[in-house]
Amino acid sequence: MPPLSNLAVRDIETLIHPYTNLAAFRETGPLILERGKGVFVYDGDGKGYIEGMAGLWCTALGYGNEELVEAAAAQMRKLPFAHLFTGKSHDPAIELAERLKELVPIPASKVLFCSSGSEANDTQIKLVWYMNNALGRPGKKKIVSRLKAYHGVTIAAASLTGLANNHRDFDLPIAGVLHAGCPHHYRFAHAGESEEDFARRLAAELEQLIQREGPQTVAAFIAEPVMGAGGVIVPPKTYFPEIMKVCRKYDVYMISDEVICGFGRLGTTFGCSALGFEPDSITVAKALTSAYVPLSALTVPQAMYEAMLDESRKIGIFAHGFTYSGHPVAAAVALKALEIYARERIVDAVARNAPYFQTRLRALGDHPLVGEARGFGLMGGIELVADKRSKGPFDAKAGVAPQTVHFAQEEGLIVRFLVGDVVTICPPLIITPAEIDELFDRLGRALDRTLHWARALRLVR
Ligand SMILES: Cc1ncc(COP(=O)(O)O)c(C=O)c1O
Repeated sequence: MPPLSNLAVRDIETLIHPYTNLAAFRETGPLILERGKGVFVYDGDGKGYIEGMAGLWCTALGYGNEELVEAAAAQMRKLPFAHLFTGKSHDPAIELAERLKELVPIPASKVLFCSSGSEANDTQIKLVWYMNNALGRPGKKKIVSRLKAYHGVTIAAASLTGLANNHRDFDLPIAGVLHAGCPHHYRFAHAGESEEDFARRLAAELEQLIQREGPQTVAAFIAEPVMGAGGVIVPPKTYFPEIMKVCRKYDVYMISDEVICGFGRLGTTFGCSALGFEPDSITVAKALTSAYVPLSALTVPQAMYEAMLDESRKIGIFAHGFTYSGHPVAAAVALKALEIYARERIVDAVARNAPYFQTRLRALGDHPLVGEARGFGLMGGIELVADKRSKGPFDAKAGVAPQTVHFAQEEGLIVRFLVGDVVTICPPLIITPAEIDELFDRLGRALDRTLHWARALRLVR
């Protein structure tokens, strides 16, 4: 391993890195990026990488978009900060809320801004509790999420998250959060069970869970249309329609967490449209500003708004909101991003390029290391297995997917590994077919090198 640079040593001695093995990191050090252009980012030595993860599923318009930079600079010059507390307001927040209300495929009465996906999902829970208190049903408070879901890391959002590492030794999940089954047919279907039967069974299990807990205690269900950080898990086509029937039957408020899927990732403006369901509320973040500045939001339906009005009359105040709820610079950047998505027909471009992306992705399913290559739109995951036939996984300690990510980085491609040896791909939405080819060529070489490495270590035959 080459010696660490001075900057790398300073990093190791000063920063805590999220989602990093802090002990191993002391040996490997960081990959320090310096600049970006289009779908490429460059390190300090000038080496270019295809940003195959759009950062963290977020830089939808890629890097170096001058219009977004200009929108931020212009707003900073005009009014760099203003808040929405105590009835104050500003033009960018009003306009953005109007735009979002028009864009979402569900009736939305109001929009509430936050800065991160986690904050927005925490707020979703608080509003559901608040609404049910206003409606005189204080016992209806439990929230159902799903195993392998990812909804963030704050205390409530991490509790919704259905991944063991987000709970372990953090004393989570909190009480009142339940996890239903994960709609991953490859891993969780019974032998011979069709996708439709699997979806029906999951919906039946959800209904049993609600009945067991008592329908009068279950308030909401939250789901990502396609699960991201749980491993790019695409549910069967009939899954959400079946789940929605159960939610409607028991008056369970349905939240679509569109933090990854919103604004075109699946080839539709919102993921719920691609997966065939109409939630009561939508959480957005990430691509809302193409991640150039932090901003998230959730929509509030009319019935919930009326309940909030009642609470406000009773208590005298709606005591929730963050300093940066509706930050004017973030709102101005979001307005520009939404303008670009519409003008450049980004959703149409994704719909056009997605079949080719998926063809190249699924071709990796033939690789000896790949158990399943799956995805939707411009989002993909490949699950590496020790034995294709039995779907037998590698020992996590062998670090097979991390090795693929390492080789990919050497090949000039940034991808990510997740628990369960899944390598994920989620490039900026502006990626061209030629760049898609380059991405998968590089990933293919990284997989071949991983196979060679795994054979040398006798991890595979
Ligand atoms: C679906 C989903 N929800 C919520 C979050 C949390 O967002 P943040 O990291 O901005 O808190 C993420 C982050 O990746 C996500 O993918």
